[in-house]
Amino acid sequence: MKKIFSLILAAALLFALCACGSTQQDAGELHMATNAQFPPYEYYENESIVGIDAEIAQAIADKLGKKLVIDDMDFDTIITAVQSGKADFGMAGMTVTEDRLKNINFTDTYAKGVQAVIVPEDSDIKSVDDLSAEGADYRIGTQKGTTGDIYAEGDFGADRVDKFTTGNDAVQALLNDKISCVIIDNEPAKAYVEANEGLKILETAYTEEDYAICVAKENTQLLDDINKALKELKEDGTIDSIVSKYIK
Ligand code: ARG
Repeated sequence: MKKIFSLILAAALLFALCACGSTQQDAGELHMATNAQFPPYEYYENESIVGIDAEIAQAIADKLGKKLVIDDMDFDTIITAVQSGKADFGMAGMTVTEDRLKNINFTDTYAKGVQAVIVPEDSDIKSVDDLSAEGADYRIGTQKGTTGDIYAEGDFGADRVDKFTTGNDAVQALLNDKISCVIIDNEPAKAYVEANEGLKILETAYTEEDYAICVAKENTQLLDDINKALKELKEDGTIDSIVSKYIK
């Protein structure tokens, strides 16, 4: 009897140890993985990360009674951070795709995105079709690992695509004539065009997509909790009012 008891005790201890080891986080904290180079969804204002995603995440954390901690990282490392438990969820204007769904779960969607094409004002690229016209050899800039990057590679070939760590790096390369256009989500595209002279967005959009929050496959409890919070925040108008603060 005593032996069995100590065996159970040992097992329980081991379990507790493992549970602790897998995440070094405070149970009262909710860690959000993002890439804060994506206005108006997430970007720096002085030292703090603000934007639509940051505010919706804060509202979700409030509902769950947790302290939100935002971890800024390269966009193409967010999914791994969530899968490995380094972060609890990923929120980064992230598009739901079949491929990503193989590795993580997505919550209900909270916003729509459109892939847009930024060109210099005097560019001879007039529409997306010009990019794939016969003999076209335009260089296309993207943010590494984004849907814009993945689609551009598929549609125009990897050797025509230049991948940058941030959308802003791609836009700087465009301003310096290193590339002919940048494919990126339309809201950041608008922010970049506004912040830099001599650029415009092509009228024809490239693709439409849904943004959602990603959560590790096994973390179904958090997925349900976030979906419940999102539903309430949609219904009471919180999401709309956050969005309209940033998108006029
Ligand atoms: N919507 C695109 C995607 O999911 C781009 C997102 C980029 N987000 C960011 N915070 N940099 O691939």
